[in-house]
This record gives sequence, structure tokens and C-alpha cells, in this order.
Amino acid sequence: MQEWLDKIESSDSLDTLEQIRIDILGKKGILTAEFARMKDVPNEEKKEFAQNLNKQKTAVNSAIDSKKTILMALALDQKLKAELLDVTKFSTTNGTVGATHPVADTMEKITSYFQNLNFSVEEGPLVEDDFHNFEALNLPKFHPARDMQDTFYCNDGKLLRTHTSPVQIRTMMNSKPPIRMIAPGTVFRRDFDITHTPMFNQIEGLVVDKEDQISFANLKHVMVEFLQHMFGDIDVRFRPSFFPFTEPSAEVDISCIFCKDASTGKSCGCRVCSHTGWLEVLGCGIVDENVFKAVGYEKVSGYAFGLGIERFAMLIHKIGDLRSLFESDIRLLEQFKGSAK
Ligand code: PHE
Repeated sequence: MQEWLDKIESSDSLDTLEQIRIDILGKKGILTAEFARMKDVPNEEKKEFAQNLNKQKTAVNSAIDSKKTILMALALDQKLKAELLDVTKFSTTNGTVGATHPVADTMEKITSYFQNLNFSVEEGPLVEDDFHNFEALNLPKFHPARDMQDTFYCNDGKLLRTHTSPVQIRTMMNSKPPIRMIAPGTVFRRDFDITHTPMFNQIEGLVVDKEDQISFANLKHVMVEFLQHMFGDIDVRFRPSFFPFTEPSAEVDISCIFCKDASTGKSCGCRVCSHTGWLEVLGCGIVDENVFKAVGYEKVSGYAFGLGIERFAMLIHKIGDLRSLFESDIRLLEQFKGSAK
């Protein structure tokens, strides 16, 4: 008996343990054979004989069970060790680290700036309908301002959104004021030259609150702070402009960062700013009453702004040709390794 228990105790794998169990308790096992001998034992000894065998059987079973628990824990431990992933092992990549594309990087920088000001980030479909892209934005059919944007139309009358402004409409229709949102995303226009690509990215901003709460001064303050955050120590000017969905509207310029004179701090004019000393960077204005009417808002006021991400990326990283941002040339990306935050 002790011999069996010792064997069980010293077994080093679940397989050996199982073999020992078969040798003792299996069909042809030693103890099973003993039980078979029962019929030959005289009646008066049967009880003691059976009790003794049962005792042995219980002892063997419980020894096997506790050894099994230990061996299973050990096996699991070994399995986990074998499968352990060494995340510090970078050998297969030869130390190559990717780079964030300047457009993605700029999008992220602008988005997180406004998120820190508690603006929510909203999304909308790339394939839009006429109502959201034009009609609700105070651009009724045959409005001459529709000529400003050359649109890609789909066969079913839908269109590829020409700006992120439809997200303003969708957000206003799906929620109640106050609203403080931005909408980063891809837009499409039928344009292709050094400064235009048929697909590019914008960020839209919209703030709506109670009547008389939002003024042009609020808009101006937020825009100036934002532009100085992005471009550093620059001057900002607002030029009166026109957008159908804002009134009054402005285009915003920053003093040219390429020809800024270090001693005077003034931009003296260069090829990039067409010798004006100013670079146009965004459009904005006070939301037109007709836009609020289209979404069923009453007694509210608000401002909106929109800007092109690629333009910002080109200015921040001093990239000369817009098209190089979309050519997927790995050499462009390699210059931005480690530049992303
Ligand atoms: N949607 C305008 C454009 O694409 C930008 C803009 C947005 C202007 C919001 C004013 C207010 O040119």
C-alpha cells in the first residue's frame, strides 16, 4: 500500500499518474483483482476483507486526486510560460518605427485643441443629400452661391459632400442647444491643380446657445487663440466675406510665417503669401437665421467656422505642393518620423 502511495507521490506527469491509476484500479488493476478474490473469502472474514479493500481504494483515489491537482497547476504554469509574449522583443522590425502622416497629425492636433475647450466631435456621411449639403445651409436650388462649389453627383441624386457643414445640420437636428461641436472629415470637390485636390479634409466648428448669447467677439476670440496655438506668435486679421450659411461672414488671415522678419516681427511679403504678408487660413461667421429655421431652432444664436486640414498641414510643416500629401511616397513620411506627439 505505502509503495503505491509513494509511486503516486513521485509521479511527474499526468500521463504517469493515469498509468498508475490503471495499474491499481483499472479493469486488470491490482486492487480490482483483490476485489475479485472476495468470492473465495470465507463469509465471516468477508466484512473485514471488504472494509480493508475499500479503505485502500479510498486512500489511493484521494492520493491520485491531490497529485492530479498539483500536476495540472504545474502543466498550466508551464503552458503559460511557453506562450508568454515578450513585448520588449523588437528584433523582427529592425528598429523601424512608423510616422504619422502630416494630415492625420494636423487633424489630431486641431481636434484635441477643441476637445480641450469641451467641443464634442461629430461625424456625418460622406455621401450626402441635397438638403443637408445645400438646402438647409441657406443654399436653395438655383442659388448662385452653389456655383462656388463644383459638386460630384451620384446617379441617385445624392452627392459627395462638398464641405463638413452638413454635419452642423445633422447635429442640430439630432440634439438641442446649447451645442459646441467640431466635425473633422473628408470632403470632395471637382478641382485639381497645385493648390486643389478632388478629395481633401476639413474641420467644421459650430457653437449654438440662447438668443443674444453668442457674438462675433466670442468667435473672434476663439479663432485668434486657436490660430496662435497652431502657428505661434502671429498677427490675425478678419476680412469681411460671404458664406450663404453665415451672416456676417469673415475670412481669416494670419501674418505670413514664411517671410516674417525676426527683428521687426513683420511679414514683408514672399512668393507663398503672393507678396501680401498674409495667408488665408479659414472661413467663419455668425450662423444665418435661415439655417436655424431649417433645423427648427428658435431664439438661439451661434457662430461657425470651417478650415482645410491640408492647408494647415502644409503651413505647419512647410510643404510646398499639396499633391505630395496624397502621393503615398514613403520618403515624405520618413521626414516626419518622431515628429508626431
Ligand atoms: N463650409 C465652408 C467652406 O467649405 C467653410 C465655412 C464653414 C465657412 C463654416 C463659414 C462657416 O468653404
